[in-house]
Amino acid sequence: MADALKLGFGPFTAPAKIGASGVLVVFCDDRLKFGPATARAIAPAAGLMARAAKAERFTGKSGSALELVVPEGLKVARLVVIGAGNAKGLEQKDLLKLGGLAMGKLPVSTSEAAVFAELPGGGMRDEQAADLAQGIVLRAYAFDRYKTKRKDDEKPPARRRVTVAVGDVVAARKAYATREAISGGVLMARDLVNEPANVLYPEEFARRTAVLRQVGVAVEVLDLKAMKKLGMNALLGVGQGSVRESRVVVMRWNGGKVGEAPVAFIGKGVCFDTGGISIKPAAAMEDMKGDMAGAACVVGLMQALAARKARVNAVGLIGLVENMPDGNAQRPGDIVTSMSGQTIEIINTDAEGRLVLGDVIWYAAKRFKPKFMVDLATLTGAIIVALGQEYAGLFSNDDKLSERLTKAGEATGELVWRMPLNAAYDKMIDSKFADMKNTGGTRWGGAITAAQFIQRHVADKTPWAHLDIAGTAFDSRQTDINRSWGSGWGVRLLDRLVADYYER
Ligand code: BES
Ligand code: MN
Ligand code: ZN
Repeated sequence: MADALKLGFGPFTAPAKIGASGVLVVFCDDRLKFGPATARAIAPAAGLMARAAKAERFTGKSGSALELVVPEGLKVARLVVIGAGNAKGLEQKDLLKLGGLAMGKLPVSTSEAAVFAELPGGGMRDEQAADLAQGIVLRAYAFDRYKTKRKDDEKPPARRRVTVAVGDVVAARKAYATREAISGGVLMARDLVNEPANVLYPEEFARRTAVLRQVGVAVEVLDLKAMKKLGMNALLGVGQGSVRESRVVVMRWNGGKVGEAPVAFIGKGVCFDTGGISIKPAAAMEDMKGDMAGAACVVGLMQALAARKARVNAVGLIGLVENMPDGNAQRPGDIVTSMSGQTIEIINTDAEGRLVLGDVIWYAAKRFKPKFMVDLATLTGAIIVALGQEYAGLFSNDDKLSERLTKAGEATGELVWRMPLNAAYDKMIDSKFADMKNTGGTRWGGAITAAQFIQRHVADKTPWAHLDIAGTAFDSRQTDINRSWGSGWGVRLLDRLVADYYER
C-alpha cells in the first residue's frame, strides 16, 4: 500500500539533502538537453553522463531512461535520466507518465529520492509539477496487504521519501493539494477492487464507506428492510442466493449551491459474481472479486470530490450484492418486479449487473432528480471483445454529456468510446412473459443490449451515461501509473468531468 511513500516538494538544491544513498531523477529531451537547474545539479557528472548515453545509445526518446550508479562527482547512489521526447506541449497524461516512470526507476531499497520537475525549456509549471507528483504516487501504489513472506531484499524500507524539486515550492504544493485528493480517491478505489471477496462482502463494503464521513460526506446505508420497502426486487433477487446480505449505500457531498440539483454517480457493486445458477466456468473466475469496480470508483470519486472540496452537489449510489448459486438462488425463468414497476424475466442469472443497476439508477433519478447521472459497471465481456482494455464503452441518451465525457477522457487518459443505443437493439430484450428479459438471448451486441436494459430504468428522461468498464477496471497490463490489478479507473475521469463542466 502507498502509505510508505512520503511525497513532498523542495527547491532545486534538494540533491544535497537526499544523501549518498539517495536517487536523483532528472529529465532531458531528445537532444539530450537539460533545464538550467538540472544542468547545474548534474554538472560534475556531465561528461560521464554523455559517455554513458553514447555507450547505451540513449537519445532521450520519450519513456526511455539512462541510469548511472554511484556517478563520480555527485553525492548520490544513482542518477536516473528520463527521456521526455521533444518535451513540448506536455499534457496531464504525459506528466503522469513521466512521474510514473521516475517512480518506476527507484530500486525497492530506495528511501530517499529527488525528482527534478524541470524540462530543457525550464522549470515545469506548478500544475505540471503537481501532475508529475501525482504520477509518482499512482505508480508507487502496491496492494501487498496479504504478503507475509517477502525476502529482505524485496522489502521496501519502512518509509520512502520522494521530493519533487521545483522553482516555487509553495505554488507547487498548492497545485498538488487537488491532485492529492484525487489520488487518494484512486488508491481507495484500487484497494477496494483488489480486496478479496471473503473480506469485502456487501456489508463490509458498506462499512468501509463510513470513512468518507471524515471528509464531510453524508453516508447512508440501506439494509434489506429498506430495500424491500422501496421495491428493489431486481437487486434483491440477485443477492438472494448469498449468505451475505445485500446493501445500497448513498453518499452525498454538498459543496455546491444550497438546493441546487446534484450530479449523480451510480456503481455496480457485485462483490463476487459466480454467475449464480447460470454458473460461470472456472477459468479466471477469481477476477470476479473485482465485479464491484464500478462501486469502488464511485466511492473513490466521492472521496476525491469531498477531499478537494469540489464546488458541486454530488451524490454517489452503489448497489452491493453477491451473486451465488444456492438452494435459495434466483432461477432462469423467474420473473421479478423492479422498483420501476416493470417486470423482468430472468433468462441468465449471470446477467446480474443490469438488475442491480436498474433498481439503483431508478431510485437515483426519482429521489435526487439529478442534473445528469453516470453509471459505471463491469457489465459485459462483450465490451472487452469490442474495445479491449484501452477504452471503456460509453452509452448515453445525451450528446452533450457524451461529448464532455469524451473530452475528460482525452485529458486524463481514461478514454471512453461512444457506442450506439437504438430501438432495434432495445427490441431484443422484449420478453414473451414479462415487460423485458435480462439478456438479448444472443451474444451479438451484448454490451449494447445490456445498456438498453439499463436505459429502460432511467426515470424521467434524466440525462444519463453508462460506462461499461469491464475492460478497464482491472488488468495486469503494468502501465506507467499503475502496477496493481485494480486500476481505480474512472475516478480521475469523472473528477475531471465535474471540474470542467459542473463546478461553479
Ligand atoms: N461481471 C460480468 C462481466 C465481466 C466479464 C466483467 C469479464 C469483467 C470481466 C457480468 O456480470 C456478466 O457475467 N456478463 C455476461 C452477460 C451475459 C450472461 C449476457 C457476459 O458478459 O458474458
Ligand atoms: Mn455476471
Ligand atoms: Zn457481473
